[in-house]
Amino acid sequence: MEIRLQNLTKKYLNRNRKNPGEITAVSDFTLKIPDGMLVGLLGPSGCGKSTTLNMICGLEHPGSGRIFFGDRDVTELLPEYRGVGMVFQNYALYPHLTVRKNILFPLENLRGKERLSKAEMARRADEAAAMVQIGELMDRKPGELSGGQQQRVAIARALVKMPHVLLMDEPLSNLDARLRLQTREEIRKIQRSTKITTVFVTHDQEEAMSISDMIVVMKEGVVQQIGKPQEIYDDPVNLFVARFLGTPPINLFEGQICDGKIVIGNTPVLNAADAAGMEPVFQKGNCGPRGPVTVAVRPEGFVPCEDGELSCALQRVEVMGRDISIVAEHPACETSALRAIVDASALPAPEAKAVKFSLKPEKIFLFCPETGERIRRI
Ligand SMILES: Nc1ncnc2c1ncn2[C@@H]1O[C@H](COP(=O)(O)OP(=O)(O)O)[C@@H](O)[C@H]1O
Ligand SMILES: [Mg+2]
Repeated sequence: MEIRLQNLTKKYLNRNRKNPGEITAVSDFTLKIPDGMLVGLLGPSGCGKSTTLNMICGLEHPGSGRIFFGDRDVTELLPEYRGVGMVFQNYALYPHLTVRKNILFPLENLRGKERLSKAEMARRADEAAAMVQIGELMDRKPGELSGGQQQRVAIARALVKMPHVLLMDEPLSNLDARLRLQTREEIRKIQRSTKITTVFVTHDQEEAMSISDMIVVMKEGVVQQIGKPQEIYDDPVNLFVARFLGTPPINLFEGQICDGKIVIGNTPVLNAADAAGMEPVFQKGNCGPRGPVTVAVRPEGFVPCEDGELSCALQRVEVMGRDISIVAEHPACETSALRAIVDASALPAPEAKAVKFSLKPEKIFLFCPETGERIRRI
């Protein structure tokens, strides 16, 4: 089912007496989700992810804007008629019911011509349970299950109605690291095999990157960027997006553009025209002088070499197997240390006090220090 969100805006009354007025939880949100796609809604806590999801499923009514499932305008439709399955962070299972009864629950509540026979309900419940591999737990109560198993029950319960749309709000946040990874892969597999259009909310960029066909990055209720995970990582529209994606995080330097060169500290490190995503018109040399810029370098953009332009004081080296992480200091770095991820063969000598890097142009982005907007021409 294709989903279209058109200019969705949601405001809440601010209950804080010291600061009365309205909070805009979601502002002018427009998005088209093609049929069968898994979209990751990504942003820090409070940026409006849950509010957006709740508007899609009908638990919240948008103050303005429309929601379409296919050609149908569902904005005024009650949640139970939208054909959506919801999965929440806290599982929200009925503790006094068995796993089987929990999964059957949405089917037993169908009325009128939607009502299924007992045998059909049982068949669907078994099928949903098998999909998340909890077939052998059907007679237990939720209290007798681990967190990961409980979340599988919640997923089975969302799938049993064969929804057109699956909405998941931080479904992995209560699981430990290993289970989170495993469950994430299973969700991806189930989504691929059922082809249910899915919106997956998370504040975890790594989770969003690994599971999504398309990511929507939000900040303070406003969509910042929409794109495939790799596209957003390689070509962020602003500093917020550049910083939000990637572990270790992107490294920031105070820089200048002088004579067409990016200068960090007193050292020209690169032609500004060669930085990632610069417009071709600028590359023809169409450039004047320019003041300060924020130079952002992905950790994999540093290449240790003896005649590298960027001289840093070596703090320490962390060995991670295939790669090593070099932690170093530079006076123009906006944080106390920069972190470079390099091949293990580039391990600095144990007694080394300094390290020099050259920079990979495609891993460097320029931003306006005041607005945080990406600079694409000088
Ligand atoms: N029922 C509500 N009443 C008032 N403010 C709310 C309500 N629900 C959410 N908000 C506010 O709206 C903003 C977005 O919240 P939410 O969508 O829950 O963010 P997220 O899911 O990204 O953490 C936050 O500032 C939050 O405090
Ligand atoms: Mg939330």
